[in-house]
Amino acid sequence: MLIVYFSPANADRVDAVSGATPRTGDVSSVEYIAQIIGGQVDADTAKIVPADPYPIVYDDTANRAKSEQDQDARPAFELDVNPEDYDVIFVGYPVWWYHLPMIMQSFFDSYDFGGKTIIPFNTHAGSRDGGTYREIAALEPDASVLDGIAVAGERASDAEKDVLTWLAGLRY
Ligand SMILES: Cc1cc2nc3c(=O)[nH]c(=O)nc-3n(C[C@H](O)[C@H](O)[C@H](O)COP(=O)(O)O)c2cc1C
Repeated sequence: MLIVYFSPANADRVDAVSGATPRTGDVSSVEYIAQIIGGQVDADTAKIVPADPYPIVYDDTANRAKSEQDQDARPAFELDVNPEDYDVIFVGYPVWWYHLPMIMQSFFDSYDFGGKTIIPFNTHAGSRDGGTYREIAALEPDASVLDGIAVAGERASDAEKDVLTWLAGLRY
């Protein structure tokens, strides 16, 4: 199994992403949920790293994300594993502008997920999954896309019980 996730923030940035990303220890909310999953399931973990890092200032990231969406962009990324080597893949990301971040479209475009099980998890500020699980199922019609978990970013630090309950429901 693999846990793979995208979050624009790193440890240095979390404080600076004003309002959007409350502190959950030293990590962003998506990364925090990834860590909870990683503590429960026997999986490798890898981070989708943007080739061009997102700006520290929240409004700048918001603007860039919007223009990437408007342009149907496929931002480049680096990933130090090959998801095709795994059968079950947890995929984490924040909702951006009511959709998957475009870098997640790049991710789904880059590999063959046919026959694999994809388990989404995401953070948000009110949109819940924002329809992104359906977006993933549409992008990957030959994969089995399970019900994910949507965690409010500002409550991520309290989400462990909910995440473990969700995993138990998936028999993990
Ligand atoms: C560019 C951008 C767009 C966002 N759009 C939405 C949105 O449409 N709906 C929503 O509920 N939250 C939205 N958010 C809030 C994030 O999903 C939320 O803060 C999330 O916890 C961020 O995850 P992170 O801490 O791992 O970065 C947006 C945040 C950013 C930076």
